[in-house]
Order: sequence, then C-alpha cells, then structure tokens
Amino acid sequence: MSAREEILQLTKRHYQEIFAGKIIRSGIDYIPASGKVFDENELVNLVDSSLDFWLTEGRYNAAFERKLAEYIGVKYAATANSGSSANLLAFYTLTSDQLGDCAIKQGDEVIQTATCFPTTLNPVIQFGCVPVFVDTSIPTYNPSYKNIIKAVTKKTKAVFLAHTLGNPFEVEELAKFCKEKRIWLIEDCCDALGAIYKGKKVGTFGDIATLSFYPAHQITGGEGGAVLTSNPLLYKILKSFRDWGRDCWCGTGKDNTCGRRFDQQFGKLPLGYDHKYIYSHIGFNLKMTDMQAAVLLAQMDKIDEFVTKRRENHGQLLLKMKAFEQFFILPEATSKSDPSWFGFLLTIRKTAPFSRRELLEYLESQKIGTRLLFGGNITKQPAYLKIKCRVVGTLSNSDTVMGRSFWMGCYPAINGEHINYISEVINDFIKEKV
Ligand SMILES: Cc1ncc(COP(=O)(O)O)c(C=O)c1O
Repeated sequence: MSAREEILQLTKRHYQEIFAGKIIRSGIDYIPASGKVFDENELVNLVDSSLDFWLTEGRYNAAFERKLAEYIGVKYAATANSGSSANLLAFYTLTSDQLGDCAIKQGDEVIQTATCFPTTLNPVIQFGCVPVFVDTSIPTYNPSYKNIIKAVTKKTKAVFLAHTLGNPFEVEELAKFCKEKRIWLIEDCCDALGAIYKGKKVGTFGDIATLSFYPAHQITGGEGGAVLTSNPLLYKILKSFRDWGRDCWCGTGKDNTCGRRFDQQFGKLPLGYDHKYIYSHIGFNLKMTDMQAAVLLAQMDKIDEFVTKRRENHGQLLLKMKAFEQFFILPEATSKSDPSWFGFLLTIRKTAPFSRRELLEYLESQKIGTRLLFGGNITKQPAYLKIKCRVVGTLSNSDTVMGRSFWMGCYPAINGEHINYISEVINDFIKEKV
C-alpha cells in the first residue's frame, strides 16, 4: 500500500473516531441555526488534495465546476473564494467595456431590496452606482415583481436580488421583463442552491448568478462561492476579473492555451508582449483553493439529500408553528416555487405579548440558536446612513423585518426530535407570557 493509500485509510478511521455518529441532543447540546454536514468522503478528498500539494485551483476545482454547472443547468460555473467575492465578480463583469453600450457605468441605478445581505449591495456602491431600494413582502421576504418594476427608470441598468433564505423571487417574470428592457438581472442564489421556480433551478433565469459555500449554506467548502452563467462572453469577462484582470485564459500552471502567447498587440504595449501579462480589466484575485473544491466535490454527491431534508424540516416546523399562528406570521413559499430552505423565518405579530428579544434570549437559554434576516432595513445600518441611494415607496415591511423577524435552523443535522423540542420550548415560553 502506498503512503497516500495508507493516509487515506487512516483519514477514514479518523472520521470514524472523531466525527461519526455525532448527533445533537436536544436540551443538552446547542441546536445551531445552521452548520456543516459531512462524512468521510469530504475528509478523504480534503486530505487527498493536500497530498497533491497543488494548493491553488486544480483538478478538484475543475471537476467541481463541471458538476455544479451540470446540476444547476448552466453552461459555465467559475468558483470564487466566497459568495461575497462571487457577487463582486458578477457585478464587475457587467461593467466591462467589452459589453459596449450595455456595460453598467458609474451613476447607473441598480434595483435592490432594503433587506439585502450587505455584499449583495456593496459592489454596487463600490463601483459607484446608485442603489434603488424596494420594500420586501411578508411572508415570502422577497420584493414582489410589481414593486420591482415600479422602481425602473431610464437610469436602471441592473436588478441584483437574492432568493431570500432559499425562497425564490418571481424570477421568470422578472427575467422576461429585464430582457425586454435590456436590464441585467443578477440572481444572488447564495442561500438558494437547489431552489426551483416554475420547474427550473434558480440561477438559470438571470444573466449571471452567484452561490456561497460558507458552512451555513446548502453545501460547504468552509469558505467559497461560484458565479454561474450560460453566456460565453460574460464567462470570459468574469474569469478575467477573477484572475487579476488578465486577458489570458490559461488554466493555473498552463501556458500558451491560445497558441498566440507572443503574437498579439494590446493597448500601447509592444507587439508580442507575453499574453500572460496582458490586463484587459482592472481585476482581482478571488480564486478558490483546490482543497476547498475537494470538499465541495464530495458535498455535491449529497446535494439532493440535503435539499430534501431542508424541505422536510421546514414543513415539519411549519406544522408545529401553526399552533402559534396567533403570535407569529408563518413563512410562505413564493407561488409556483419549491424553495431550498435556508432557515425557518418567523415574524412576531405586533399584538404578541412578548418582544423578539425576550423570545430569542429564552430560546438561547434553552440551547436553540436563532438568526436575524441579515441587517433588517439596511438603509438604517451605520455603514449605509450616508450612501447615495433612492428609495421607492415605503420600507415599512423592511422595518418590520428589522424589528420583529428571526429564523431558526432547518439544516440537515436537525431532525423531528429537535423540532418537537423547539416547539415545546416555544410553547412553554408563550404559556408564561399569555
Ligand atoms: C444572500 C447572500 N448573499 C451573499 C452572501 C455572502 O456569502 P459569503 O458569506 O460566502 O461571502 C450571503 C452570506 O451568507 C448571503 O446570505
């Protein structure tokens, strides 16, 4: 047996000794809102890639990108080192001069929701565009198609929206509208891998889409993200932005893929300047390592099972929470969608005899983790108080989310027994308060 084979055997043993069979014991262990779920295959892939010592993106990354693109149903997937980086890349891709008149320019308007995740918004501000905020709807927690199109003006160049906590927005209708109006649609699918709208996976409707693989997400590589598109030009541009802004598209460790490495003239450079050092964009380096991709490749084998379990858990939580409907607005899937639920989101009714803080502190004391819907109304966050933006209509639902919404976990490590425990704890809390 080679040293590698022996190490990989030992890795499997290590998994059995340290991780296998671990379950969360209700009331004894903390029930987090999210977390990673894995078996020996993730560990074996991780160690195997470390033994290659390739380190940067390599064979595992290539296999993962292929598998991911095939799963979603897009032509291209390019990995990035986080979902935030994927959002940055997706947005900057649409600013490329190579898109001519269609390129997003400084001062253009980009429609967002006020309950967005910060890094869905930040690239827009960082590039110098003007975010236009629309309110969210409760209980889907996505802005409605009607509200989004009301925000469109001559200055609108893009709509950049997330499928909130895995629940699709009305993406087919919006994609059609955007195409007609020549407005870019960026789908932030960071929380929604596997979600379906009208029979198609999210990430296939917009011009470009993003994913996150942080541990809270449907699959994880620790850190990581991806940009998806079926447009070859956008793919070429996004790889350029991702890889230092270079014009060359050689894979890591490869040279002269174009066959014209010393044969072209760009900008004011001398003829034949090495294509590897030609920069056609003011880019970044946002690549993922092969070790992250190795873990993600193993996670891909579990994606269907993970999404199914999330749906089951969400369904069970919904059944249990129906008993408390008097106190909570229950979550609803967008019509014609099959969400890939990221969490179970509740809004406490105005009339409830308790505050969100009281409830969340009680849940915490009973070892049940909760999370808020990002920053609530982001226009009220300190970093965003002075940004140049436009608000369409009121943001009253966003304020409600900010004051009274929270979510609990439905990720695959949670089971029916945990859900019973959660509902008993909420029942005890409510009995105390009523
Ligand atoms: C909707 C949304 N977009 C983007 C991100 C950013 O992803 P990452 O944490 O991988 O940077 C997140 C993070 O969870 C998110 O929820």
